[in-house]
Amino acid sequence: MSSPPPTESPPRLRLGILLSGTGRTLVNLSDRIAAGSLAAEIALVISDRPDVVGLHRAHALGHPTAVTREASATFDLLREHRVDLVCLAGYLRLLPIPEDFAGRVLNIHPSLLPKFGGRGMYGHHVHEAVLAAHERESGCTVHLCDDQYDHGTVLLQRRVPVLPGDDADKLAARVFAAECEAYPAAIAAWVSRVAG
Ligand code: GRF
Repeated sequence: MSSPPPTESPPRLRLGILLSGTGRTLVNLSDRIAAGSLAAEIALVISDRPDVVGLHRAHALGHPTAVTREASATFDLLREHRVDLVCLAGYLRLLPIPEDFAGRVLNIHPSLLPKFGGRGMYGHHVHEAVLAAHERESGCTVHLCDDQYDHGTVLLQRRVPVLPGDDADKLAARVFAAECEAYPAAIAAWVSRVAG
């Protein structure tokens, strides 16, 4: 009698994470994977700056890391590590996307795009602009990247209120909590979209 074929688990989605700063988004995705709520693995973390906190966090979590500012070297590394999906995670550089990665690069931005996006709109600049415009709500957007800052097909948005007494820190914390839910959900949405 022949033995049953070995059960092979399906290959996991291989993520490439690109960061420039603190790596909080990386840590969130890594934690979700470890908790079993995001079916993926982190194949490579690339920073465009040496010695940033995000890189140290990636090391501590046991993820492979690399440092490069060059777009072509970045994509060569992502190919070498057989990355399926690239997640920008606080990555501040505008990245020209080669044809073979079109539709495979996501970004999360801490506003309801198209509002408060574009060059120079990152971190507290975004939240300060939201407060200065007296917006009643803000939130985050996960989108496919194209060759413009904070631009491309929106996959998912999450809204949060702007509350009386908010300053940029308070609003940033509320938006970041929404981001922690939105990015894993958007990755799952991307997978469903690709699986068609
Ligand atoms: C988040 O606000 C995200 O929207 C933006 O970068 C911030 C996270 O950066 N793209 P980090 O993970 O704290 O470095």
